[in-house]
Amino acid sequence: MPFEIPWTDDPPDVRPRNSLQFWWGLRARWKPNQWVLTMLVEEHEIVVGVQDLIGAEFAVTRQVATGSWLGKAYQGRGIGKEMRAAILHLAFAGLGAQRATSEAFEDNAASLAVSRALGYVENGDDIKVSTGRPRRAIRLVLHREVWQKNRRDDILIRGLEPCVSKFGVAGVDF
Ligand SMILES: CC(C)(COP(=O)(O)OP(=O)(O)OC[C@H]1O[C@@H](n2cnc3c(N)ncnc32)[C@H](O)[C@@H]1OP(=O)(O)O)[C@@H](O)C(=O)NCCC(=O)NCCS
Repeated sequence: MPFEIPWTDDPPDVRPRNSLQFWWGLRARWKPNQWVLTMLVEEHEIVVGVQDLIGAEFAVTRQVATGSWLGKAYQGRGIGKEMRAAILHLAFAGLGAQRATSEAFEDNAASLAVSRALGYVENGDDIKVSTGRPRRAIRLVLHREVWQKNRRDDILIRGLEPCVSKFGVAGVDF
């Protein structure tokens, strides 16, 4: 259970409704200065997980955060790294972000490894509550210059132009 909200503790008959209500709520609350983009991750047309991109006062801060999960059967096969690289490309190349942050509990080796592999560096820690227990979370940050050095040329952004204002930014270097 690597999250602050104990999603996976819900019984199987309740979990789909709770998940949908969460996603609908995010869409209903979307504002150009406060948004959470929840992108579907597919492998061979099978839904395997979700990659979020989070912006708070993005037009001013030019900072994004990310969150993600993959179904258990799809973990540990390189998809987590690919989906984070993809969302970072959207943030930096598509939306003009200057920094991206991430956070994971200290025992979440996979999430921390994804961040480190993509050039994030540690940026302090925090104590969070997870299922009633204190747990140490490690904060990470990826700066635009580092992303730029490792920039990929095989990731395509489609359909952003008509909705870019929804992210609170005007012109972007696509
Ligand atoms: C975190 C998560 C999205 C990572 O995706 P993934 O597909 O499992 O990870 P990848 O296969 O892309 O691996 C990326 C890196 O992590 C390493 N890694 C993967 N699983 C690992 C594990 N259990 N222990 C140590 N390292 C691990 C890989 O070796 C790889 O490192 P490298 O690039 O240096 O070779 C996925 O594991 C997941 O959904 N976990 C549960 C939910 C979660 O923890 N979400 C994040 C909350 S902060």
